[in-house]
Amino acid sequence: MNNRQLFLQHVAQTSDAPLALEIVKAEGMYMWDVNGKKFLDLIAGISVCNVGHCHPAVVKAIQDQAQQYMHLLVYGEFVQSPQVAYAQALTKHLPENLDCVYFTNSGAEAVEGAMKLAKRFTGRTEIAAFNRSYHGSTQGALSILGDEYWRNAYRPLLPGIQHLEYNNYASLELITTNTAAVFAESVQAEGGVIVPQLEWLHALRAKCNATGTLLVLDEIQCGLGRNGTLWAFEQLGITPDILLLGKALGGGMPLGAFISSHNIMWSLTNSPVLGHITTFGGHPVNCAAGLAGFNALLEADLIKDVKRKGELFHQHLQHPAIKAVRSLGLMMAVELENFAVNKKTIDYCIENGVLTDWFLFAPECMRIAPPLIITDEEIIHACKVICEGLDKL
Ligand SMILES: Cc1ncc(COP(=O)(O)O)c(C=O)c1O
Repeated sequence: MNNRQLFLQHVAQTSDAPLALEIVKAEGMYMWDVNGKKFLDLIAGISVCNVGHCHPAVVKAIQDQAQQYMHLLVYGEFVQSPQVAYAQALTKHLPENLDCVYFTNSGAEAVEGAMKLAKRFTGRTEIAAFNRSYHGSTQGALSILGDEYWRNAYRPLLPGIQHLEYNNYASLELITTNTAAVFAESVQAEGGVIVPQLEWLHALRAKCNATGTLLVLDEIQCGLGRNGTLWAFEQLGITPDILLLGKALGGGMPLGAFISSHNIMWSLTNSPVLGHITTFGGHPVNCAAGLAGFNALLEADLIKDVKRKGELFHQHLQHPAIKAVRSLGLMMAVELENFAVNKKTIDYCIENGVLTDWFLFAPECMRIAPPLIITDEEIIHACKVICEGLDKL
C-alpha cells in the first residue's frame, strides 16, 4: 500500500472525502506535495501560520528549547521560562485586566477552561453563546457551539446553555443574573466572516456589566493580527473579561490560552485546589515557538499591511458569480451561489496550485485567510486563479 492508502486505512477519518494532499515540505506562503507540485496557501492551516510556514525564528526557538528541556511536570508547578516569557510578552500587549495567562494544548481546551473559570468565579451555572459560532469539538465547547446539526448527534450535552442571535438586540434580554458568561467570537469565522455591529457589541458589553456576567471573547481564529489589529477587540472598542487564544498562538505548534485578571484566575487555586489541570498545556517547546512567532509578527510589523492586503483581494475578486465578499483584514469569505459551485471552484484552485476551502457553517463561502506575509503579487495571482475557476463553471 502507498502512503495515501495507509492514511485512509489506519489514520482515523472524519470525512469520506479528505483532501489527502501528501505534503512533504512547507515554507513561507507555500507547500510542496510528494510529486513536487507547489501550492500557494490561502488558508494558513485555518488561521494558524500567520507568520508563514516554518518561520526560521520559530524553527530555531523549537530547536534551542528542545535542547534545554521538553516536558518537566504538569502545568503550573515549575517555573518554566518559555511560559513566563510568553505570558509576559502577551500581557504587555493586553489591557490591564487581562494580565494572567493559562496555557492549554488547543483552542477547545481554552474554551473548556474558560467555561469552568466563569462558573467558578461567578458561582453561576448558565452559559450563553451565539448561533453560528464555532468554539471547538470537545463536549463543553460543542455544547455552546451554535449549530444544532453539529450538536444533535452528541446529546445529552451540558445543561443550562442559551443560544443567542449574533447582532440581535432582543437576544441580549436572555442574559440575566443567572448567566455566568457569554461566549462570543469577536468576528464569527465559521459562520462565514460575520463582523459584529459596534453598537450591538457595546450593548452586549453593557448587558454583561449590568448582570455581573463575564464576557468571553473567542479570538482563537481571529486574534494575533488577522483582522488588522493585534487583537480584534481593539478595533471593536470593548474589552473582554476573558480572552481565548489558540491557532496562531503557537507559531505552528499546538498552543491555546485563556487569559483573564489575576483576581478571576485565582478562583482555580482553591475549593478545589488544582481547579484546572493539564499535563502538557503550555509545553515549553510550544511556548518558545509561540513567543518566537509572536515576536516575528511584531518585529516585521506584518499587521500594518493586513487591511490594505484585504482591500487588494476585494479589488481583484470581481466576478459575476461572486455574490459578496465579507471580510475584516485577512479573514475573508467569498460568497458563491451554493456549495456545489464553491466546491467546484475550490477543486479548480487546488488543481491549479492555490489551496483554499469552505466554512463549517457557510459551505457556500470560500475561505481566504492566508499567512499575513502574503505579497501583493501573490494576492493578484490567487484572485486570478479563483476568477478563472469561476469562469469555468
Ligand atoms: C473560533 C474558534 N474557537 C475555537 C476553536 C477550537 O480550536 P481547536 O481546534 O484548537 O480546539 C476553533 C477552531 O477552529 C475556532 O475557530
